[in-house]
Amino acid sequence: MAEAADGVDAADGARPTVLTVVGARPQFIKAAPVSRALAAGGYDEVLVHTGQHYDDGLSGVFFDELDIPRPDYHLGVGSGSHGEQTGRMLSALGERIAAVDPEFVVVYGDTNSTLAGGIAASKLDTTLVHVEAGLRSGRREMPEEVNRLMTDHAADVLLAPTERAMESLAREGLSERAHRTGDVSADAVRWARERAPAVADVFADLGVDDPPAAGEFVLATVHRPRNTDDGARLRAIVKTLTDSPLPVVFPAHPRTTAALEEHGLLEALEESESVILVEPVGYLGFVRLMSAADRVLTDSGGVQKETFLLGTPCVTLREETEWPETVEAGWNVLVGADPEAMAAGLTGEVPEAPADSPSPYGDGDAASEIVEVLDGVRS
Ligand code: UD1
Ligand code: UDP
Repeated sequence: MAEAADGVDAADGARPTVLTVVGARPQFIKAAPVSRALAAGGYDEVLVHTGQHYDDGLSGVFFDELDIPRPDYHLGVGSGSHGEQTGRMLSALGERIAAVDPEFVVVYGDTNSTLAGGIAASKLDTTLVHVEAGLRSGRREMPEEVNRLMTDHAADVLLAPTERAMESLAREGLSERAHRTGDVSADAVRWARERAPAVADVFADLGVDDPPAAGEFVLATVHRPRNTDDGARLRAIVKTLTDSPLPVVFPAHPRTTAALEEHGLLEALEESESVILVEPVGYLGFVRLMSAADRVLTDSGGVQKETFLLGTPCVTLREETEWPETVEAGWNVLVGADPEAMAAGLTGEVPEAPADSPSPYGDGDAASEIVEVLDGVRS
């Protein structure tokens, strides 16, 4: 029997072990429903946190809220250039996977933690499983696109959220390893929606003295390097927010706060009458904000999908999306950082609510589908 460092039993002979790699905000949210389904399905899970995100608002809060166990191992890798960060994770994950000796290593999405977990596992005698496989933006300059491509091609089991993702995998010759499971974000949103009302007053938690009424504010998030690192784009986005006729609640990612400061834009936001600049919000509070907002302005991948599932119109600050279903349904509009298109997106007419079913993202039972696929791989 392998005995991992710090006392985690890798195999007790009865229950198969899954080693899950997480590290960044969206991964804690996506892993939560799968953790619950794995436990219910008779698997032991060893949760490894790379430490890519470490602020309480980007990490700790999700472990407090999402009913997932604390990580068994925290690698404490922290921030750095892509090469440095991914390299440190790769080395530490390789050691950990070898020590735990799991049957499956599960990685989520498209961050540097995903890629490091993918490379580390593919070099060892374990089965690499990629949740959210097959997504493509078509923009190779995006760090996430490279991470997705490389992880998909390294993985043994590809779990695709949508039919589109299955088609992308087929185009790359990966169909044999691919399974369509639905999207775990639908599971996460369903779970949170039932619990979000318990967050009595998200505005009070955020220290907002004069909160806007439901339906009378815009929610904004920005964190893609394409928007934060390009001064002209960031300036245009800030101007759109400060010119907004409705108040804008803006939970700023630390990358964005740093970029705003660097480009001399932070003061304009802090002093703006229309912008309520706050720290990142926990998931339950954020689901409440997405549900209550008139519309959401974002460059996040997860938020485009969640707004679609929650029935809130989305204005996306990008030129392309991995989630074209939201655009085809008329529920998401891609405006890049073009001033006129952003303003039109903010004030234009609200579309019809997307049809309830069939949802391109499944019915919120992707996590149990994933466990069924793993059962099938074992048998
Ligand atoms: C990462 C992912 C991105 C994902 C996002 C989710 C990569 C390449 N990017 O982007 O795909 O959409 O997470 O939020 O993996 N920082 C802090 N505190 C933290 C974490 C980061 O202050 O807890 C600051 C550091 O200055 C750091 C910067 O944010 O350099 C960027 O963090 P990093 O994890 O490299 O990328 P994200 O922009 O968060
Ligand atoms: N989110 C959150 N609090 C926030 C902003 C986002 O809980 O202040 C959640 C959001 O609901 C989604 C996920 O974080 O589930 C998206 O993370 P992010 O936008 O950082 O990454 P991406 O999805 O673009 O990779």
